[in-house]
Amino acid sequence: MVYALSAIIAVLLGVCGYLLSRLYKIRLSDGPSSKGKDYELKKTWSKFDELLASLMVIHNLGAIGSGKTKQNEFFQIALDNACDLVGAIRGSVMVYDETNKELKIVASRGISREIIENTHIKKGEGIAGRAFEKGEIIFVTDPSQNPQYKGFMGYHEQTEPFISLPLKVQEKVYGVLNIHMPKGNNSFTDYDLKFLNILGGETAVTLENIKLYESVENFYLEMVQTLARIIDAKDSYTGDHAARARSRAVKLAKELNMPQQMVKYVEYAALLHDIGKIGIDARILLKPGKLTDEEYGEIKKHPMIGYQILAPIEFLAPVAQMVLYHQEWYNGAGYPDGLKGEEIPVGSRIVAIIDAWDAMTSDRPYRKAMSRERAREELVKGAGKQFDPKVVEVFLSLEEKEFSDSAKN
Ligand SMILES: [Fe+2]
Repeated sequence: MVYALSAIIAVLLGVCGYLLSRLYKIRLSDGPSSKGKDYELKKTWSKFDELLASLMVIHNLGAIGSGKTKQNEFFQIALDNACDLVGAIRGSVMVYDETNKELKIVASRGISREIIENTHIKKGEGIAGRAFEKGEIIFVTDPSQNPQYKGFMGYHEQTEPFISLPLKVQEKVYGVLNIHMPKGNNSFTDYDLKFLNILGGETAVTLENIKLYESVENFYLEMVQTLARIIDAKDSYTGDHAARARSRAVKLAKELNMPQQMVKYVEYAALLHDIGKIGIDARILLKPGKLTDEEYGEIKKHPMIGYQILAPIEFLAPVAQMVLYHQEWYNGAGYPDGLKGEEIPVGSRIVAIIDAWDAMTSDRPYRKAMSRERAREELVKGAGKQFDPKVVEVFLSLEEKEFSDSAKN
């Protein structure tokens, strides 16, 4: 429903943009007019252009980029667009935090870190708190004369007028957009107010889209995590395998300077890499002795089964790839496709090491856990064969640190 609405808004914005640009050209060549009037007209139309461009940016972020765009990035982009539109050098976006019942600054321009961190505004408090509570725009021309302004955001050096605009979809208010007057101006124009209002409305709708997307994303993730717990229960000797693997994988991915989003994917891959075991007969999974070739063939199906479970979930697509290749060997001797070296996704190379470490250092019904030293030796032996040597090196130095830290405590 929201996506259908988004598509309609996108089409309308496009059509509007085209019509306005046509009108703009026609009006400027339209008969004699005084120079001043012409200038005003030109300025207004060019503002329309800017507004449309801003709306398109914000709208596209929500409609196309949702899932890729995180809320905080989105707020910063919306704020920058609003400030640029009216030429303001100071502004902020505040969002209502339901847990602490207060408005917090989530994006800012021209505001010190100290103020950002110390701003906690209750509903109805100060100008922003009132704009939020009432869901109405509040415009303050002279902050020094306004008793509500005192203490607003905890800083008094601000004397320029400002506007506090609720980010609202129908009756639901998510937060406020505060824009301070551009330098040298003593009031916002009517157009500024109208433009900001439109921009605020679109920002709120887009935010709602992103929130919706994130809630669906979380729902899927919870479902898949539940599945991961089921695997843990089935493949009983792995115990809390998934949780340990997950936290080590995050550390390793960060140490390898992977981008934040990739670290997340690696985290999920570590958590879910053996999800395909859900499709393998428990008697084979739990068999204490040596496996027959046929049984081993069954076990080898688990990366592909895992891939098939995860691939239909769009936001887990990179994770599905990592899961598919987590049993590949660096020298090409692994399965399912015999990929080699860099052909194997780096997330899979990370998971392979984490998984092996966990297996070696856990007790099994048919053998005791290896000592830490033995397991380290095994990884070194496997570097360049089963494992990516670079990742092994980073893993071992992280493990060393973890070990010496735990020895200290
Ligand atoms: Fe596996």
